[in-house]
Amino acid sequence: MADMRKVGVIGAGLMGNGIAHVAALSGLDVVLMDVHAPALEKALATIGKNLDRQVQKGGVQAGERDAALKRIATATDNSRFGDCDIVIEAATENEAVKQKIYAALCPKLRPDAILATNTSSIPITRLAAATDRPGRFVGMHFFNPVPMMKLVEVIRGLATEDATVASVRGLAERMGKAVVEAADYPAFVVNRILCPMLNEAVFALMEGVGDVAAIDAGMKLGANHPMGPLELCDFVGLDTLLSVMQVLHAGLGDPKYRPCPLLAKYVEARSEERRVG
Ligand code: CAA
Ligand code: NAD
Repeated sequence: MADMRKVGVIGAGLMGNGIAHVAALSGLDVVLMDVHAPALEKALATIGKNLDRQVQKGGVQAGERDAALKRIATATDNSRFGDCDIVIEAATENEAVKQKIYAALCPKLRPDAILATNTSSIPITRLAAATDRPGRFVGMHFFNPVPMMKLVEVIRGLATEDATVASVRGLAERMGKAVVEAADYPAFVVNRILCPMLNEAVFALMEGVGDVAAIDAGMKLGANHPMGPLELCDFVGLDTLLSVMQVLHAGLGDPKYRPCPLLAKYVEARSEERRVG
């Protein structure tokens, strides 16, 4: 696709606000959509705060921050996606939720628009089958926190066209990201390796191998990780981590991917108790 000008982002949570932030900063008009209106307010406040931080650190000019904020429009329905070149879906990590979103969204899109998903783990080919455009459907997987993390994984489904891959690669690079292409296996490259390590840290906690402080300090000081694994579990979101482990376990059928029962228990708890670290 020729130069992209307008990007839709579905889901204004942890990832959606970061994707909207980097898209607007790279000069694209953005429509950020969420069914939950307070999530949009919170996302705009977070984007403003993170842009301010970038201005204070000297990486972004005040004028660029103001222009980026003006480029972001919000919506609570699909009515503003009709002129988007691409829509990046970053809603909750749940296959049924995503399928329902695509069914309602596709008729509102331009026929040539690309639909990308930021899923952490769900097979792209399976999600593509729930759309009217498997050739223009692709995985575009950003990392948290989006403004800081350099990588975008690009995952092609069985029917994804070369032109779609070239377009999202160009878009990711315009947003200042490096691209790694991953094959369409559960959780792709990074989460296939990272999430079992995080799950193992919760097993270590459950079995009393170490307490939270020992496990986190051990991996920070002994393996030079920027965050301890339990802190990173909370940072990613325990519900998202559990979903990724469930997709790995179901998709690969190997018991080594079984989600830790303590992780499941925390997700079942009330939301304010959903922290392992
Ligand atoms: N949003 C935007 N910027 C942020 C931020 C946030 N939430 N948190 C921190 N930053 C920025 C700061 O402004 C600072 O910028 P400068 O380098 O320009 O000064 C920089 O990050 C470092 O911040 P701090 O010094 O306050 O903190 P830190 O050195 O501890 O770094 C971190 C913070 C970058 C988050 C670092 O701890 C880190 O890299 N953690 C690991 C993150 C990680 O592994 N992410 C992948 C998660 S898995 C995933 O995303 C995939 C999935 O599908 C689940
Ligand atoms: P989140 O819970 O912070 O945000 C999800 C948002 O989606 C919420 O604001 C929710 O209101 C919204 N939503 C739910 N149903 C919707 C619908 N039908 N239409 C529009 N919006 C809807 O989740 P997140 O951490 O931002 O994750 C979003 C996606 O990004 C997931 O697929 C996740 O696996 C993936 N991801 C997450 C991380 C991470 O570190 N958390 C990293 C990379 C990718």
